[in-house]
Amino acid sequence: MSQYQQWIVEEKENITWLTFDRADSSVNSLNESSLLELSEILTKLSLASKALVICSGKKTGFIVGADITQFKGLSEKAALTLIEKGQAVFNQLENLPMVTIALIDGACLGGGLELALACRYRIAVSGLKTRLGLPEVKLGIHPGWGGTVRLGALVGVKQAMSMILTGRTISCEAAQKIGVVDAVVPSRLIEPWVVHYAMVAPPPKRASWQWLWRFKWIRAQVGARLYQRLAKKVSKAHYPAPFQVVDNWVKWGAKRSQAMTKEAHSVAKLVVSTTSKRLVEVFFLQETLKKLGKAASFAPTKIHVIGAGVMGGDIAAWCAVQGLDVTLQDDPLIIGSAIKRAYALAKERLKEKHLVQQALDRLCPDPKGQGIAKAHVIIEAVTEDLAVKKALFAKVASLNSQAVLATNTSSIPLEEISQALAAPSRLVGIHFFNPVAKMPLIEVVKGKKTDEQQVKKAMAFAHCIGRLPLPVKSAPGFLVNRILLPYLLEAVKLLEEGVAGLAIDAVAVGFGMPMGPVALADAVGLDVCLAALKKLDRDDKAMSLLVDLVEKGDLGKKTGKGFYTYRHGHALTAKVKPAPKDTLDRLLLPLLNEAVACLREGIVENAALLDAACIFGFGFPAFRGGPVTHIRQQDKAQWLALYATFAKRYGDRFKPDLGWENKTFDGFG
Ligand code: NAI
Repeated sequence: MSQYQQWIVEEKENITWLTFDRADSSVNSLNESSLLELSEILTKLSLASKALVICSGKKTGFIVGADITQFKGLSEKAALTLIEKGQAVFNQLENLPMVTIALIDGACLGGGLELALACRYRIAVSGLKTRLGLPEVKLGIHPGWGGTVRLGALVGVKQAMSMILTGRTISCEAAQKIGVVDAVVPSRLIEPWVVHYAMVAPPPKRASWQWLWRFKWIRAQVGARLYQRLAKKVSKAHYPAPFQVVDNWVKWGAKRSQAMTKEAHSVAKLVVSTTSKRLVEVFFLQETLKKLGKAASFAPTKIHVIGAGVMGGDIAAWCAVQGLDVTLQDDPLIIGSAIKRAYALAKERLKEKHLVQQALDRLCPDPKGQGIAKAHVIIEAVTEDLAVKKALFAKVASLNSQAVLATNTSSIPLEEISQALAAPSRLVGIHFFNPVAKMPLIEVVKGKKTDEQQVKKAMAFAHCIGRLPLPVKSAPGFLVNRILLPYLLEAVKLLEEGVAGLAIDAVAVGFGMPMGPVALADAVGLDVCLAALKKLDRDDKAMSLLVDLVEKGDLGKKTGKGFYTYRHGHALTAKVKPAPKDTLDRLLLPLLNEAVACLREGIVENAALLDAACIFGFGFPAFRGGPVTHIRQQDKAQWLALYATFAKRYGDRFKPDLGWENKTFDGFG
């Protein structure tokens, strides 16, 4: 056995086992020194070996990708050198004369999958935690160690583009279906399968020629279609990386070595772009939130959800899909409709029939609340009514003295609900966003009396169900809704002035929002928006349009009519006059102002967490790095001048918050 700093080499019956185990990290990521060591090992490898098996020494997975901490401060030239080194080592691996096998157990992402693609075979260990993908576009770059070239050659351009351009990860079964992995085996059968591949060496998988589109004119046509499809989802100006992948393939798709060179050069350029820098920062923000979820060693397995409406039903379904045992309490008819939605969610997320069945088996209808006594976390998601919630918690607390008691309320102060409890310290807010399955953030709300340990447990629960917990203070609107609502309100005011909704939305989408404020208000429900604005004391007379629509019962998408009219779930569109030039500032200034106010009031601990909340809570453009990062792009004096101009033009709502003057908090220098 030879021990390197990051790799362990062992010989067993003519097979070399190469275990990657970074000493300084809980996960395996590839950095310059691990690549250098790998190259040295490959050079010295005994040619008597029948096979080389690359596996991971970490329980956390195979390889999560390149070590992105290395990206910080890289020049384009240094980035190119690093990428070329990686390509050279993977070429070395690909050209070994013996059988090479990547043994994939757990996450195999980015550079990790590129390494696996350079092996002759890939064997995946079955289980939910084995997932494969090339998520580089989410960091504003694309695969650079041969991934864009090798994946296409292995599974065909169509499948490869679908993985690379979306950055999505796939299960090992899906990977086997499209040919990314050769076999999926249970962990107890790894050795016999490895020996089989080492001894029999079946012909390696390759895409059939008709999926390689070697003629340039075909690539140009397919490329144009891919471009069109991409442009419907993201703007090239905001997220250039996927477009670059298509460009490279159209130009160099038939010439492997040029394609490799082009791949390296374009990644080096993208790595130093502002978009990529921001997206890398956002990645670290996400990691920070994940870490918060690991603060307590609390691993609940039994969840009881009370209320099976829009939120409760979807929360229960999400928990069951994530592997927890859930009891769901409400009227049996309402539970029935929630289970129907749970089935659709399980089918979409888990795909395999038996996994869907297992998830549904974990979701137990419980109209009488028999699950309360044994639950580890009890989530209340009943009608937004203080008296109902108080009565419920008084009863629940008498049946279970240990569980975390959580409310999903979006507007009632925790202090009022917890009056019903003998121990108010037990109550914590676990505020999900709608739609539950799509929104990664959960606000964990600490009331004045909430015990810190309950907050930590609530964050651990969020982590268990694959969500990002954000601790916030109990205050009207908490953090996310409070920042979002002034932006929605300004959109309503623009509508009242006669600006078309489509024109307003186009401005916001142009800035990078996933949807415009008018469409968002319709999606959330105009009644919900109005109630929330009232709670925030923002129901001034300019909201009459909103009030009128709610009174008429035009509540948005759910009733088929709101600001827009809907047919088959889609808003009807028309040609409209563009919005006035100052529309973007009108929408953004109130949002940024509220963000500053929230920091000043300590609703959230720091600016980085606020940025994360806005990105993961309502989709503030990640490539802009969040509201505070966006504020930092310009001098404070410039912002204040802008606020002064708008206050003069449109009134006091554009007066800068006191927080802009505050030099002590970490918002701005
Ligand atoms: P909903 O009206 O769709 O569902 C409420 C459910 O609670 C109904 O099915 C009702 O039958 C049930 N219920 C009422 N009293 C009950 C009791 N004593 N025992 C068992 N079930 C009972 O309401 P929705 O929208 O799901 O909201 C629930 C909670 O989540 C509210 O506190 C709301 O503020 C909060 N919330 C709502 C969001 C949204 O977008 N709708 C977003 C985030 C939080």
